[in-house]
Amino acid sequence: MAMDIVIVDSYKSMSIKAAEIIAEQVRKKNDTVLGLATGSTPEGMYACLIEMYDEKKIDFSAVVTFNLDEYIGLPPDHPQSYHHYMHRHFFDHVNVKAGNINIPHCEGRDPGSICREYERKIREAEGIDLQILGIGTNGHIGFNEPGEYLYTGTHLVELAEETIEANSRFFDSRGEVPEQAVTMGVGSIMGAARIVLLASGESKAEAVRKMCSGKVSTGHPASLLQLHRAVTVIADREAASLLKNNNPACQ
Ligand code: F6R
Repeated sequence: MAMDIVIVDSYKSMSIKAAEIIAEQVRKKNDTVLGLATGSTPEGMYACLIEMYDEKKIDFSAVVTFNLDEYIGLPPDHPQSYHHYMHRHFFDHVNVKAGNINIPHCEGRDPGSICREYERKIREAEGIDLQILGIGTNGHIGFNEPGEYLYTGTHLVELAEETIEANSRFFDSRGEVPEQAVTMGVGSIMGAARIVLLASGESKAEAVRKMCSGKVSTGHPASLLQLHRAVTVIADREAASLLKNNNPACQ
């Protein structure tokens, strides 16, 4: 069991590498089930995938997608909702079929039934082939926040103060950041056949170090990934700067 750690020179190289892994996967299996993330980190990856699509190097027509998470309290057309993000950065520019796109849809619905339905859909799709992840400065993956315990399946979550603080950069004020979200659980994520985690920038260095420490803790959800058999971490030099000699213990 080992994490494959790829250290690259720049955000751009990280984005290209991640897009290439997705393209290779989709070429191998045209009806690939992709798990997708939002946030600043994968924006460049989506831009690369759109470029590949424009150059006819990738075809998403049979691809099925599941997003990790969505805020509670923002309508899908809100500019900061993850629905809006995904359409703006990816879906509006490529040929993923609308019926193949899955993002937890929380508005005006009971979160419990949304979560059960989401898990059922993942099962019906026969699981995720390739899951893309970012990492929070507090070690969260999806919105699985550090705590005494973690949830296995899709669930409603109270966002950690650190997450609200970090994500307030996307909103006019901190008070506008939703405090709750629906997220895939660590079991849903760990069920993916392959996982690629992207990390960029110095602010992620400590979280990346703990993720690769050789210790697993619910206090650092990303550390669970050390138990998965096929994880690739693509980190730029800044995000990898606290790994010993750039050569992590878990390699
Ligand atoms: C987003 C998600 C989060 C982010 C993480 C890092 O769908 O699930 O775990 O990946 O908060 O966000 P950025 O990339 O904005 O630093």
